[in-house]
Amino acid sequence: MKNKSLVSITDYSKDDYLKILDIAAEFEKNPSQHLLDGKIVATLFFEPSTRTRLSFESAINRLGGRVIGFSDANSSSVTKGETLKDTIKMVTGYVDLIVMRHPLEGAARYASEVASVPVINAGDGANQHPTQTLLDLYSIKKTQNTLENLNIFMIGDLKYGRTVHSLLMAMSNYNPTFFFISPDELKMPNEYKLFLEQHNIKYYEYRDFMPIIAEADIVYMTRVQKERFSDPIEYEKTKNAYVLNNSMLENTRENMKILHPLPRVNEISLDVDENPKAYYFTQAQNGVFVRQAIITSILGIK
Ligand code: CP
Repeated sequence: MKNKSLVSITDYSKDDYLKILDIAAEFEKNPSQHLLDGKIVATLFFEPSTRTRLSFESAINRLGGRVIGFSDANSSSVTKGETLKDTIKMVTGYVDLIVMRHPLEGAARYASEVASVPVINAGDGANQHPTQTLLDLYSIKKTQNTLENLNIFMIGDLKYGRTVHSLLMAMSNYNPTFFFISPDELKMPNEYKLFLEQHNIKYYEYRDFMPIIAEADIVYMTRVQKERFSDPIEYEKTKNAYVLNNSMLENTRENMKILHPLPRVNEISLDVDENPKAYYFTQAQNGVFVRQAIITSILGIK
C-alpha cells in the first residue's frame, strides 16, 4: 500500500482490506496521535461533499498533519480554463498526498498517472468510492462480527451509485448473497453482474424488498442521485421509489443493520433513526478512523 494510489477498490487485496480494518480499529481507540507532523495533504473536491471531505480533514488534523485544497472547483483556476492535468501537476509539488473527488469517471485514475504523489479517489462520477467501501467493510465487520456469508440488500439507485459498485466488488471476497432492489431504470449495470458471475457470487433482483426483508443481514440504502440524471423527468419518476420506515423493520433479523453512505433525502424516514438497527450515523463516524488508516498506510507510517 505504501506510496500506492487508491483509485479502485480492486487496487487493494483482501489482505490489504483486513490490514486497513485492523489499523482503523487501533485509531478508533486512540484517534489523536502526532503521526503526520510535517505532512501536507491536498483535498481537491470538484464535486460537493460533506462526509468524505470533512472526515478526511478531521482524520488528517487529528494526526497532526495539515490540509490545503478547495471544496468548490469554482474557487480554483479551473474556472480560468486550467486543465485537470495542469492542476494535478501543480498540486503535486505542494503536498505529500492528494485526495480528489471529481464528477468524471476515470478522473482519479488519470490524476494518479499525472501525479508524482499518491492519489486517493474520493469518488469519481458513478464509478468508484473506495474509501467509502473500506469504511462500509469496517462497519459491516463491527456490527456482524464477520464479513463472511452475509445477505446484503442493496436498495435504490444501483445504476449510478458508486458506493454500491465498490462495495459489491470488495464483498465478493467474502461469499455474500446480494439482493438488488431497484426500479427498472436504476438496475445494477451488467458489468457488475458479470463481475459477480465470474466470481461465482449469487445475486437476485427484485422491485420490492418487503416480501424478503426478513432475510437481510445488511440493508444498504442509497439515495436516488438527482445530479446524475440528464433527464429531470426520469428523476421525478424514480425519486420516491423506496422509503424505509420503522414499521417495515418489525420482522427483520436481530443482527440486521441499516447502512447508508449518506446524504439521505427521503429514502429512510426519520422514525428509523432511533431504531437500534439504524447504523448510518455511526458508519459515517467510522470514516474518520478508516481514513486515518488509509492515509498512514499510503504514507508508510503504519
Ligand atoms: N458518503 C459520501 O460520499 O458523502 P459525501 O458526498 O457527503 O462526501
